[in-house]
Amino acid sequence: MEQAAHPYRSVLYMPGSRQRALEKARTLAADALILDLEDAVAPSEKVHARELVAATVKEGGYGRRKLMLRTNHLDTEWGPDDLVAACAAGPDIILIPKAESAADIQRTADLMREHGAPEQTRIWAMLETPRGMLGAAEIAAAHPRLEGFVLGTNDLAKDLGAAHTPDRLPLITSLGLSLLAARAEGLVCIDGVYNAFRDEEGLRAACIQGREMGFDGKSLIHPGQLAIANEVFAPSADDIALAEEQVAAFEAAQARGEGLAVVDGRIVESLHVVAARRLIDRAAAIAALELDIAA
Ligand code: COA
Ligand code: MG
Repeated sequence: MEQAAHPYRSVLYMPGSRQRALEKARTLAADALILDLEDAVAPSEKVHARELVAATVKEGGYGRRKLMLRTNHLDTEWGPDDLVAACAAGPDIILIPKAESAADIQRTADLMREHGAPEQTRIWAMLETPRGMLGAAEIAAAHPRLEGFVLGTNDLAKDLGAAHTPDRLPLITSLGLSLLAARAEGLVCIDGVYNAFRDEEGLRAACIQGREMGFDGKSLIHPGQLAIANEVFAPSADDIALAEEQVAAFEAAQARGEGLAVVDGRIVESLHVVAARRLIDRAAAIAALELDIAA
């Protein structure tokens, strides 16, 4: 059987200059970690953070949590050296900021080959500018090494001149464009952060909205946000029970030579069964990851 995709319910940023946070992350219930060299690190700390993050990735100890290393943009004074260090360290994912074109991805992929990045290291791209949003489709299709998007909604709101409202209506076109592009190419798509990191109710509402739109998970800034994202982006016990019932009912209908079933007064066709099976696989992958992380 094909292995179920890795869950990305919770994707936690941490400043690459903060050793304490990097160490703490080895015990946190995050599906993935972003060790950041970009916006969370002050210019005076950039070189130190690069060394610290590279050493941390090489040392490992993060179990099955996916490790992403976010470099500075290649056009900054730090970007090229960050990428060389990332290639040598070999994280699961190199996350590039402010992607705006297929050429940005191609350039990163070329440099990764040149600098001997491990074969399994994937590229993910931040979509966080108007140009990036408008180029989402071409970016998504740029290279086989590209595996996912993370949305940078703070940078985007700044560039748009948009307000941060609870319903996120000012950003909804961009969120939708990113999701369309990601799904068209089978990429993972992670929602932007929720800034008020002590506001649990607000975070929950934002996570529910993201899940309903189709995001795989949420990027986070504080460990206190992990439990809510992990809960909201996992299928609930009711979701799993319904999916199992749909699969069983559809299989029984098929055995009778019929092409559809009815569960709870709703039609179940083969496309619903595909979604139900995907949900069941996802729940199993989450359970396996949680066992590993708790160990
Ligand atoms: N990752 C890992 N550990 C973190 C963390 C993070 N993002 N944020 C906080 N922690 C740790 C702290 O080190 C502290 O650990 P300790 O008690 O064992 O020392 C604990 O969690 C509690 O932290 P707290 O005191 O509540 O927060 P803080 O004031 O230290 O930090 C922020 C608050 C917002 C500065 C911090 O969470 C942060 O830097 N977040 C990431 C920001 C970022 O990366 N932004 C870029 C992308 S938007
Ligand atoms: Mg940004």
